[in-house]
Amino acid sequence: MTQDQLKQAVAQAAVDHILPKLDSKSIVGVGTGSTANFFIDALARHKTEFDGVVASSEATATRLKQHGIPVYDLNSTSELEFYVDGADEADHHLHLIKGGGAALTREKIVAAVARTFVCIADASKRVPVLGAFPLPVEVIPMARSHVARQLVKLGGDPVYRDGVTTDNGNIILDVYSLSITDPVKLEADINAIVGVVTNGLFAARPADLLLLGTENGVETLTRS
Ligand code: 5RP
Repeated sequence: MTQDQLKQAVAQAAVDHILPKLDSKSIVGVGTGSTANFFIDALARHKTEFDGVVASSEATATRLKQHGIPVYDLNSTSELEFYVDGADEADHHLHLIKGGGAALTREKIVAAVARTFVCIADASKRVPVLGAFPLPVEVIPMARSHVARQLVKLGGDPVYRDGVTTDNGNIILDVYSLSITDPVKLEADINAIVGVVTNGLFAARPADLLLLGTENGVETLTRS
């Protein structure tokens, strides 16, 4: 199977998982990226079976609207049963690295509100220890050099993501060479640097369920 076929399979598995729990009032949180796009396309086939969605990025909102799915502002919704999104890396605690698509801050906000975070990924995203994928950090533009110096003190090697402005008007530093043995602590330590909006570690609020697309079918992993 190709990587896209694996992504398509987990996207369909996510729809199959959430659909029986949705009703005409349900609002679903939707992530960003190529796997999330497959989820959007699969979800759209059932758009009459729920109320609408909250999007984690402008790109996702555009795709959802193209399907005719109502997109709500998070502030106008009180309950989100599910947030469904991809990841760049996932470990066996369902701690994640996200932000390859620069949408990490809105993704983290929607994940924080949702009762259940369903992560969908192809098998290449499963890792024993997080950190081979450079950790994205969203930074207020004027703090770029200050934040980069602090990240070096934490043992990282930050690289400015050229030509990228986030939906919030900020920049991204991708941090290489981090040893992520304690993702919860590192997430907090990086978020404590003045000028950081947030970082792509999803460890304080990990996924609740990981649907992993493998050659042998979709594996379901729950948080231990
Ligand atoms: C975007 C993300 C994505 O979920 C992550 O980059 C995975 O993307 P893809 O599904 O295209 O592999 O965090 O900010």
